[in-house]
Parts: sequence; C-alpha cells; structure tokens
Amino acid sequence: MSSLFDKYLHENESIFLNGVALDYDFQPKKVLYREAQQEYMARCMKPLFSKRNGRNILIHGPPGVGKTVCVKQVFNELDETTDDVIPIYINCWKKDTPHKIALEICSIIGYHFTHNKGTGELEREIVKILNKTAVVFCLDEVDKVSDFSILYSLLEDIYHKSIFLITNNREWVVSLDVRIQSRLTLDELQFEPYSPSQVREILSQRKDHAFVSGTFSDEAFETVVSKAIEVGDLRSGLFLLREAGNAAEERASRTVLLEHAKDAVQRLRDFSTKGTTLLEEDEKAIVEIVKIHSGLTVAEIYEHYKKDFSKSYRTFMRKVDFLTKNRLITANQVTSEKGGKTFTLRPSGGELRKLSEF
Ligand SMILES: Nc1ncnc2c1ncn2[C@@H]1O[C@H](COP(=O)(O)OP(=O)(O)OP(=O)(O)O)[C@@H](O)[C@H]1O
Ligand SMILES: [Mg+2]
Repeated sequence: MSSLFDKYLHENESIFLNGVALDYDFQPKKVLYREAQQEYMARCMKPLFSKRNGRNILIHGPPGVGKTVCVKQVFNELDETTDDVIPIYINCWKKDTPHKIALEICSIIGYHFTHNKGTGELEREIVKILNKTAVVFCLDEVDKVSDFSILYSLLEDIYHKSIFLITNNREWVVSLDVRIQSRLTLDELQFEPYSPSQVREILSQRKDHAFVSGTFSDEAFETVVSKAIEVGDLRSGLFLLREAGNAAEERASRTVLLEHAKDAVQRLRDFSTKGTTLLEEDEKAIVEIVKIHSGLTVAEIYEHYKKDFSKSYRTFMRKVDFLTKNRLITANQVTSEKGGKTFTLRPSGGELRKLSEF
C-alpha cells in the first residue's frame, strides 16, 4: 500500500530529462528527412570555397516543415569546417529594417564600433570586413523586411557570397524591385510537408530527448501525434509534448497518461505557437492584458500595462502596432464619448495562429 508520504520521495525527480529539447529553437543533432535539401544548400555554397560567387536560393514551404532548422544546421556545420566562408543567419521577423539588419550583421562578425553610425556607414564597414573572405547570408522570414535597400547593397558590393531567402509565401518574390530580382537570379528550394509517419518519428526523437525513458505512455504520445498531424505544424506537436508533461507533473503523476495529453490538446486552443516565442516580455504581457480586458480602448489597456512596465505611451503604441500588424491582436476604430477617434483592442481569435500565414 502506498503511504501518505510516497509522493514527497519523488518531489525532486522530474519526468523532464532535458526540457529545452522541446523549445522551438532547439537545434536537434539530427535533422531527419531533409538530407537532400541540405545537400542542395551545400552545393549552392560550393563556389565560395574557391572564392567565386555562390548561388542564391529562395527556400519556401508552409510553417513548421524544417526550413529554419535545416539552414541553421548547415550553417553550424560550415562554421565548424572552415573560417573561409562566414555564415550569417538573420531572422527578419524582428530585424525588419536595414539598420537593424546591419547592426545584427555587425554583431555576428564582431564589429563593435556601431554607436552613432548610420546604416550606410555600417554597410561600408560590413563590406570591408566580409570582402576579405566569402559569406553566406540567410534572411529568414524575409517577407517581413520593410525596405530591401540593404539587399541591394549586399548584392552589389560583396564579392563572394550566397544569399538564402526563406519565406512561407513564394509569391512574395514578385513584389521585389526588378533590379534586385535580376541581380539575385534565385533558384528555388521547396520544402514539402512531412508525411504522418515522418511527423511521428521526428516527435518521437524529441520525446526521447526531452523525457526520462518510459515516462511518456504510448496512448498519450499517439494523441499528441494525431493532433500535430491535424494542425500540420510540428511546433504544435512540441507544444503538446511539453504541456502533456506539465499536466502530468501538476498532478504529481510519474507517467504522462492519455488524460494529460487530452489536457494539453485543450490548452493548444488558445495558444499562438510561433508568435509568442518571438515576442518580448512586455509584448506578451500586452497580448495577455488584451485577452483579459478585451474591448477596452488603447488608453485603458495602457493603464494596465503601465502597472508592470515603465515605458512611454509612444513605445507602448509601437508595440500595439507591431502586434496588430502580426494579427496577434485586432484594433477597431471607435468614437469616444467626447467625439474623438480612438481604438479598442481584442485578441485575434482562439485557434492556433501562425503569423507567417498572414
Ligand atoms: N526534420 C526535422 N527533424 C527534427 N526537428 C524538426 C525537423 N523539422 C522541423 N523540426 C522542428 O520543428 C520545429 C519547426 O521547424 P522550423 O522552425 O525549421 O520550421 P520552419 O519551416 O522554419 O517554419 P516557419 O515557416 O513557420 O518558420 C522546430 O522546433 C524544429 O526543430
Ligand atoms: Mg522558420
């Protein structure tokens, strides 16, 4: 018979062995089923090894099919193999202006004298440094960039380079300036969705990495897999693995059972997988405040926000604008009691949202 105190004996033992393996930006040692794509990326860079220009590619496909994780692994391998070709990976979701991109490149290549320098000056420094070697750029979520002048400079002034652009939306290319398009001459690399058995295998690998062996029941795992297949984004599978584990721990269970996986599926409903991982703390807070106080005006939401963050109304409004553009919240124009125009804020629906789809 179990004693009243049994549960305390295991208090410090977690079923999570390595919880970070469930983070969306965790880099698994092995990226499964994408060998052909990685091989192709490597071939595009080959000319860089003999100081010639490499090929430029447009990498496209739906959310959660391994585009980012593949490029990052190829870049890591490149970094470990040679100093002659420098990999520069930039996520343009947050670095969405030429200046922010230039600063990010400076930080990656270790150029620190950026203070008070304009974008043009930074670009000149970058070109000077990078022209001593060869370079491969990856602009991930490239459709979020507000102004492509920097792409133009990179194309014109850097001698030995390959440029990888990643987007969910292949049609985005036609919106590019024709001068940039003709200089890029992009090859295409399409990422197809995984088959159900591939989703199962990838999630199984992550589960084995993240949890103590034997703590995740087969029924719970199958529930996670079916939901991830239904949603069609691997991130939802990672979210479900973590939340099922959390649900088990909350109930002091040493095994993740079917009921915990069902609980996790329930939690998936009002969760934005990609969006919230990339948000800053106060941006997450704004989304939360808007969820709780849906329909209040921006000024009223600011009053709540101010309690935890001492930032100006202007900064707050910039963040609201950012969140609205990415459809994490919606703004509706209304007329205030005094007759002026203002906005009310609401959350943007309950289903799993993928920002890249907007
Ligand atoms: N083949 C794979 N092997 C292991 N993990 C994978 C694989 N494909 C995707 N993943 C995992 O799934 C998650 C989503 O993958 P990734 O970020 O590469 O998607 P993406 O195609 O870039 O999506 P998006 O267009 O939304 O940015 C990541 O946590 C990644 O580690
Ligand atoms: Mg990605």
